[in-house]
Amino acid sequence: MRRRVFPFQSPKGMHDILPADFLYIERVERALAKVAHFYGFERIETPVLEDVRLFERGTGPTSEIVTKQMYVVKGKRDTGILALRPEMTPGVFRAYIQHGLSRLMMPGKLYYNGPAFRHERPQAGRFRQFQQVGFEVLGTGDPAYDAQVIMASWRLLSELKLKNVTVRVNSIGCGLCRPVYVRRLKEYYKKKISGACRTCQKRFKENPLRLLDCKEPKCQPLKEEAPVSLDSLCSTCKNHFTAVLELLEGTGAPYLVDQFLVRGLDYYSRTVFELFAEGIDAALGGGGRYDYLSEALSGPRMGAVGVALGVERIVEAQKTQSTVVPARSTPDVFVIYMGDEAKKKSFALIEEFYKEGLVARESFSRESLKSQLRAADKEKTRLALILGQREVFEEVIIVRDMRTGNQETVSLKKVVETVKKRLH
Ligand code: HAM
Repeated sequence: MRRRVFPFQSPKGMHDILPADFLYIERVERALAKVAHFYGFERIETPVLEDVRLFERGTGPTSEIVTKQMYVVKGKRDTGILALRPEMTPGVFRAYIQHGLSRLMMPGKLYYNGPAFRHERPQAGRFRQFQQVGFEVLGTGDPAYDAQVIMASWRLLSELKLKNVTVRVNSIGCGLCRPVYVRRLKEYYKKKISGACRTCQKRFKENPLRLLDCKEPKCQPLKEEAPVSLDSLCSTCKNHFTAVLELLEGTGAPYLVDQFLVRGLDYYSRTVFELFAEGIDAALGGGGRYDYLSEALSGPRMGAVGVALGVERIVEAQKTQSTVVPARSTPDVFVIYMGDEAKKKSFALIEEFYKEGLVARESFSRESLKSQLRAADKEKTRLALILGQREVFEEVIIVRDMRTGNQETVSLKKVVETVKKRLH
């Protein structure tokens, strides 16, 4: 007989998050909450769908995220065209302005944790739905916040005991000095671009800064000789960058200046950075200052800086490094029954444990003592409580120590108390 194949799969590039992965993800989320609390970031969640123009104008018309990877959803007449958010920054920024949060928080220090969507070519570390956590500081140009956002991301990864976390940092200048730099870069590439890869040729026309992002071996010698943005910074940008580095210097966090770091989103100005950890090539996180995003969205003039980290990549790094393997929490007791009457009593007993703050498990779909004991063993419980027909009749219960196999019979009325004593 032919076996029927289940016809459905998760969409390409989108993955189910299974219980075993949540052990890792929840570690990330606990670390995120701790770090956010320490630095005074408050949580925000924005809709998964936003007006497409928010990303077209915010994330930027030349970024690949917008030109190639955005999931656009045709809304009904009252919503216009929407997009599944490819990142959170423009949405968080919109919410900050929309709700007048600057009156309550100045600077606005917000953090988030949620799904983002990019129609990427599926490959290792690149998904079409992924989870981002991030920090944004809105309403300030102070370099101390560039450094603080870097520290918060570094602390998050260090909290997870990831080894050799490094920060690469660069400055790509402001609206005054960057055009000068881009002209120098174009000038340099002009005569040589015919020998470069096709992506570089395209970037030369559309987004010359991204020429420095090329990983193609044949373009490396060209790139290495290229002028760097740090040599073209105006004095204000130079001072800003020096201040960021000095602040980082004082903390002992390992950073290095990477003059080729440019990032793929259009809104950055001045500081840009990425975070890496041993054993995984892709960046775990990236961010920077985006002082012109507000104007691009027709908002007030306002400085801002932030970072986002990919949870899947952080989980991958945790697994690759295997510094800490998170374990499932074990129950305090496992209740085993035999017969219908005992099953009813077990059901009620489990609720008693809830009231006392103890975790009780069961295996109601199994009937034999042997298979329930096996289930208790698998759950790695310290104590099993066995309730048979005779015990129900005598109003007692057997308390079995799963490590030693020792058993004692106690009154059903006193079982919660006995368990508490035995566990402490
Ligand atoms: P991003 O560099 O595009 O920056 O993404 C940040 C992180 O999200 C990446 O370092 C990576 O870990 C993860 N990530 C991005 N795309 C994917 C993907 N397709 N699959 C899996 N993980 C991915 C931003 O999104 C900016 N909003 C960061 C920022 C915040 N800048 C200022 N504030």
